[in-house]
Amino acid sequence: MTRSPADRIWDIVLTCTVTCSAILVPLFLVFEDSFSSSRWQFDLLFTFVFVVDIIAHWRRSKDAGVAGARSPYSFGWFSLDLIAAIPFWLLTGAVWLQVLRLAKLARIVHLMRIWRRRSVQHWSMLRLLFFIYWIILSIHWISTGWIVIHGHDDHVGHASDYLKSVYWCVQTLSSVGYGDVLPMNDAEYLYAICVMLFGVGVFGYIVGNMASLLANFDPAKAHYLETMEKLAAFMKYKKVPHPLQRRIREYLEYLWEKRRGYDEASALSALPPQLIVEVSVHLKRDIIEKAPFFRGAGEDLVREIALQMRPVTYLPGDHVFKAGDRGREMYFISKGRLEVVSQDGTTVLTTLSEGEFFGEIALLQNRPRTASVRALEYCDLYTLDKSALDHVLEVNPAFAAQVQESISERLARGM
Ligand code: CMP
Repeated sequence: MTRSPADRIWDIVLTCTVTCSAILVPLFLVFEDSFSSSRWQFDLLFTFVFVVDIIAHWRRSKDAGVAGARSPYSFGWFSLDLIAAIPFWLLTGAVWLQVLRLAKLARIVHLMRIWRRRSVQHWSMLRLLFFIYWIILSIHWISTGWIVIHGHDDHVGHASDYLKSVYWCVQTLSSVGYGDVLPMNDAEYLYAICVMLFGVGVFGYIVGNMASLLANFDPAKAHYLETMEKLAAFMKYKKVPHPLQRRIREYLEYLWEKRRGYDEASALSALPPQLIVEVSVHLKRDIIEKAPFFRGAGEDLVREIALQMRPVTYLPGDHVFKAGDRGREMYFISKGRLEVVSQDGTTVLTTLSEGEFFGEIALLQNRPRTASVRALEYCDLYTLDKSALDHVLEVNPAFAAQVQESISERLARGM
């Protein structure tokens, strides 16, 4: 179910309130005397926000039901929300019942799952942030639990008391254990053992996941670096000449700058056909808008051509093809300049740049390439194969005449 901007703002308000309750409720219970007046005000706020949340949730589920979607407000969620919203401690007089507010944390777990699923791009970052969130809350809870078991230190204020227990918690969790704050009785020993075991689990998780977490921050970069490393090792092993190694490196670096290492075809392969067409048109919009070749073509044709066009990159000095080669495709220049060199290689016939095309003569006249074409700088081109070109010209007779005219002109200018 899609969430409206108002829902999203409410999610944030709810997360802040629940976090606030998760921090304050244990403090209210441990330092009762310090919070005797403010606990009421905060409790009123928690009740208000949690009740509003139940109403909002109920209304949302009703709307979803009307729209034919499955009602997302199950009995289980409703019960949990209700338990968290009712001020049982006020009704019964049992102060410890305030911990029932923490039942609302289940909703935060649920929201975190939704956020992670929605922002695929920042998935790893969110995973790390949420992990830190739970660690901080755990440290807070364990520390307040320690105060309950260990008792208050009457010689210092509440703030120092709390700080000391956080100090004990962190050193026990991380298994540092300086031994300056010691368990004194069986309950404290038992508690310390549990905290240590929990700490072993947490740090095991951190060590086990840190590498993949860091790699996942930028999977494209990790993949790119891995490709570069493998290729460098391979070229060294095969004793590829250094100038060639440098060119390969430069090519991959350029591709990284340009496309962040993504290959268009494989990136789109997971999409359904209709989306592939739309993304292809979007990706090739630059060349479609720049090239006069496409000006006469209707929207449908443009979509069809966009789907057939493949991106290729050439380095400065690279030959796209040489005169006499067999022609299989024609080219559109998205970026960069190329020179057309006569068959004998002595004359530069012309220089082509953004928006222009070449390589059409061999395709349309079924003959070998009439000239060589060489990149003068980094060039981003799109190729279009013969069958696609034939189709474009067939459905666009006026445009075919224009291309024929351009061919005659080019041929007349010499080769
Ligand atoms: P083709 O013969 O397939 O391959 C070489 C290409 O260079 C040719 O198609 C034309 O697209 C282009 N070409 C050839 N001669 C000229 C010219 N004089 N001016 C501009 N482009 C040319």
